[in-house]
Amino acid sequence: MTSSPSVSAAFNDAMAGLQAQPRRWLVTGCAGFIGSNLLEALLAAGQEVVGLDNFATGHRHNLDEVAANVGAEAWARFRFMEGDIRDMDTCRAAAEGVDHVLHQAALGSVPRSLEDPVTTNEVNIGGFLKMLVAARDARVRSFVYAASSSTYGDHPGLPKVEDRIGKPLSPYAVTKFVDELYADVFTRAYGTPSVGLRYFNVFGRRQDPEGAYAAVIPRWIAAMIRDEEVIINGDGETSRDFCYIDNVVQANLLAALAGAEGMNQVYNVAYGGRTTLNQLFGYLSQFLNELGIVYERAPRHGDFRAGDVRHSQADIGKAESLLGYAPQYDVREGLKAAMPWYAQFLR
Ligand SMILES: NC(=O)c1ccc[n+]([C@@H]2O[C@H](COP(=O)([O-])OP(=O)(O)OC[C@H]3O[C@@H](n4cnc5c(N)ncnc54)[C@H](O)[C@@H]3O)[C@@H](O)[C@H]2O)c1
Repeated sequence: MTSSPSVSAAFNDAMAGLQAQPRRWLVTGCAGFIGSNLLEALLAAGQEVVGLDNFATGHRHNLDEVAANVGAEAWARFRFMEGDIRDMDTCRAAAEGVDHVLHQAALGSVPRSLEDPVTTNEVNIGGFLKMLVAARDARVRSFVYAASSSTYGDHPGLPKVEDRIGKPLSPYAVTKFVDELYADVFTRAYGTPSVGLRYFNVFGRRQDPEGAYAAVIPRWIAAMIRDEEVIINGDGETSRDFCYIDNVVQANLLAALAGAEGMNQVYNVAYGGRTTLNQLFGYLSQFLNELGIVYERAPRHGDFRAGDVRHSQADIGKAESLLGYAPQYDVREGLKAAMPWYAQFLR
């Protein structure tokens, strides 16, 4: 493990260009986990940002934290709109005069979509389409959107390569795939420049540890800090390509600024590794221990979860070659970086 992860040359160039010539961005879902991290990176880089969120799953405290981290001068370059992407007028108002859209607003979680496929569809497809229309009519330079590794569905191949997908295993996966189809059609029919980023299990600061649909990493960290039981779905040999948030921020900015070769594509955004749930539990125990939080209970193994794929690992070659993506943090480096935030937030 390296102590200071190497930095992508393409990313450094992109950031220098932005500092020299700031642009105007729209981040939808800016009060959520990934959106608030994008917002923070953009404000820190001297950009002007409009943010849209309805707080369905995001939080004001995420925005407060960004404000505190970036300082008053940067925060003054941010305009927040509380609103819903299912409303066309709201989408149009948010996209007006914007150079780049980073569309993150959606209802995440496979189990949520199995329980309420209708609302998931309305937000993730209906809201997506309205945002895309607004971006088209505002003639943005790029529309980058959060796609998902769930689109690989039942395709058995590993690692996952962008053009080889199977059938979706959940309503959530359907919505994310339909978004890709719409973005592609908008490019062909209207010339709207877009990039889809298929995120693989993102984690890091501000990922919500609370609620029935919390992702595995924050849910387990919360349980371990509170000395509650950790439940592993299945035998623990299910594996994922866990991707630290800073890698995702890098991919978004590179995608937004991509030239003709990199535009109008879909990319895997991951580290390119594979970690089992049993290994993950071990890493979390170790890094919490290093912060003086000792968890001595053994995890309990429960049922496998409906709609989950068994193994997931990305081939990130396409993003590396066309975007200059170079993920800085592997899963252990990312967990180590995220842990102090959780320890502070949850105690
Ligand atoms: N976190 C991951 O591992 C992961 C993996 C694959 C894809 N994604 C996608 O990345 C995006 C961001 O996910 P996240 O993990 O930050 O989740 P999140 O729930 O923290 O953020 C989503 C944000 O969108 C907002 N939102 C939801 N419905 C809205 C609506 N109708 N109008 C306006 N705002 C709305 C929420 O309030 C929230 O702030 C989502 O599109 C998600 O599907 C995430």
